[in-house]
Amino acid sequence: MNPVVVRSLLALLTGLSAAAAEPSLRERAAAHGLAFGTAIKPGPLQDDAAYRATLLRHFGVVTPENELKFKRLRPTRDRFDFAVADRMVDFAVEHELAVRGHTLVWVADSHAPAWLLAEPVEREHAASLMAEHINTVMKRYAGRVRDWDVVNEAVSNDNRPGADFLVDGYWRRAIGDGYMALAFKLARRADPTARLFYNDYDHGDALGRKSDRIYALLKRFRETGVPVDGVGLQLHCRIDRPPSREALEANFHRLKALGLIVQVTELDVATMSDPRPETERLAAQAQVYADVVAAARAAGIDAVVTWGFTDRFQQGALVKRLKLPADTPTPMWLFDEAYAPKPAFEAVVRALE
Ligand code: XIL
Repeated sequence: MNPVVVRSLLALLTGLSAAAAEPSLRERAAAHGLAFGTAIKPGPLQDDAAYRATLLRHFGVVTPENELKFKRLRPTRDRFDFAVADRMVDFAVEHELAVRGHTLVWVADSHAPAWLLAEPVEREHAASLMAEHINTVMKRYAGRVRDWDVVNEAVSNDNRPGADFLVDGYWRRAIGDGYMALAFKLARRADPTARLFYNDYDHGDALGRKSDRIYALLKRFRETGVPVDGVGLQLHCRIDRPPSREALEANFHRLKALGLIVQVTELDVATMSDPRPETERLAAQAQVYADVVAAARAAGIDAVVTWGFTDRFQQGALVKRLKLPADTPTPMWLFDEAYAPKPAFEAVVRALE
């Protein structure tokens, strides 16, 4: 038999038998009122039965990893392309998975299509482009996408004194700092049933400058009637800089106290830049996953969503950013390349006991 076929059959069998034997993460988490989810990729969702079996056994919430981003949905000024996104949302609805829509307004120019950057930097013009986008996308998925990341990564990571509070980009240049409030208002009107989120990274610990900025921003939104329902903490973690469980829990609590739905939206744990031997790295990874889930459970947040679930697919963008050799594997998730549960999986199960 063709070796590729043999390999896929083996992976399928391992995936199916493992999936049948393991405790289900979504069921374990649900016992604590916590939803458990993952980002999904269109290729394996279509071609890989073991991918689907593991997904459906363990996860109740899905986020299309890239397919609902502005750049993907709007390849040109005049054309929306919903083909792949529709397929993913249809799959989720068919299998009764909740969908996180990611993301409507991502201000950084590096995440905008070239055509948008060539548009006039003018308030009315940009506001009407934004309205067109939010209306078209949210109305299409109304009743099918439960949660939307309306604004993504708007607060700056620059911790130097006097540094700009907000990330720059087309929407902000044209509309001003009010672009965020406008996005939330448009989103509320486009689909009043959707839960609207502000989503960002590096605000895991309650004491960091960036988390304080995000907290202050969301507090102001709540006080001034900007219709934001929730906050997403991405939590792209590294074992050489593990988050503090206590600080995470404290941050979850203070965000909840603003009346916000709190979710971990993009959890993954990179091991690649750590020099320890493999078994130690996997144990450290398990500890980070367990700490995040334990903090989530203790603070009673709404959901933990991992940014993928199998080591089978390389996170190429991150390998590039860390300047690692192009073929470096990225074992960042709960299941290995053949969908077998890793120490991190067992640790999450224990954290949910
Ligand atoms: C990442 C995807 O995982 C990659 O496949 C893509 O190349 C770049 O974007 N913050 C976010 C996510 O909000 O959309 C990013 O996803 C990871 C960081």
